[in-house]
Amino acid sequence: MNHLGSIPGGMATLRLAADGDGIAEGARLLAAGLLVALPTETVYGLGADATDARAVAAVFSAKERPRFNPLIAHVANLDAAKREGLFDRAALALAEAFWPGPLTLVVPASEHGTVCELARAGLPSVALRIPGSEIARRLLADFGRPVAAPSANRSGRVSPTSAAHVLADLDGRIAAIIDGGPAPVGVESTVVACLGGRPRLLRPGGVTREAIEQVLGSHLAGPKGVPTAGPLSPGMLASHYAPRASVRLDAVSIAPGEAALLFGKNRPSGVEEAVADIDLSPSGDLAEAAAGLFAALRRLDASGAATIAVVPIPRSGLGEAINDRLERAAAPR
Ligand code: TXA
Ligand code: MG
Repeated sequence: MNHLGSIPGGMATLRLAADGDGIAEGARLLAAGLLVALPTETVYGLGADATDARAVAAVFSAKERPRFNPLIAHVANLDAAKREGLFDRAALALAEAFWPGPLTLVVPASEHGTVCELARAGLPSVALRIPGSEIARRLLADFGRPVAAPSANRSGRVSPTSAAHVLADLDGRIAAIIDGGPAPVGVESTVVACLGGRPRLLRPGGVTREAIEQVLGSHLAGPKGVPTAGPLSPGMLASHYAPRASVRLDAVSIAPGEAALLFGKNRPSGVEEAVADIDLSPSGDLAEAAAGLFAALRRLDASGAATIAVVPIPRSGLGEAINDRLERAAAPR
């Protein structure tokens, strides 16, 4: 084990079952400052003790993240969240409506908070989430401290929605993974900042804008489905979630040699000639499409096609997060 808390390359990553023993072992490894990939309902996270700057630094090196973006601190319950951050009325209403679940709240960091500066990237705010996955919450409860966890992929790659995806990127670079099966939501959490004034949407995700605005009784500030690289949310860089193939959006026809990402009954011309094709949801269900999005991008990438052509996907509801991720995958790199 090196000083960064990761393990030397070539050493196997422990596969832990999502049972009492596996979760207890995961908590023990986290307490030793090591990295443990954990299932959440959105995507798999690369977990580290959020109070330990050395463990958090190991997350950045395992991911080969070029910069220290602020990370989400995952907590087991609302009491733990309130120890770390200051919740105004809007934040409390959103926490009560959507936690546990795919919503991250960026709130002012509490003076007595334990999330280290590195996990907050030196910001006076902290990003908090109670994950919907029961396995993740049992790990958090066992561990007893917040767990910093970005998506468990190498920097710039597609987020992992299964243990196999995590191992494809990080085997031998992290101490362990808890295998909780496929992630049911499939896109990352929605990130909303409650820092005084109107709550702001920093990243569309697993909770829809419409559902959040209904709880708030007002509109969210922030970008409407357009990729931005605003300083507020450093993780929102335009080029992100990138497969190796280039990505072409709003395809009405498929060129020879392209792979096709389809949705609903939409059959673009030339699809018979595609190197590979996957329909995210033949019935046109956006939740089903979100759940399968990242796995589909990985599989189409593995087909060897130079380009993945994507048909138009509706922008309502979860379509906002799906289109956001696809626009990032298509952004120039
Ligand atoms: O679903 C998810 O959110 C997954 C699972 C593992 O929980 N995690 C995830 O983490 O997607 P990550 O690190 O890939 O994305 C965290 C997002 C980034 O967009 C980051 O900029 C934003 O949260 N963020 C974190 N702390 C922030 C802060 N203090 N202010 C503004 N944005 C913040
Ligand atoms: Mg990520």
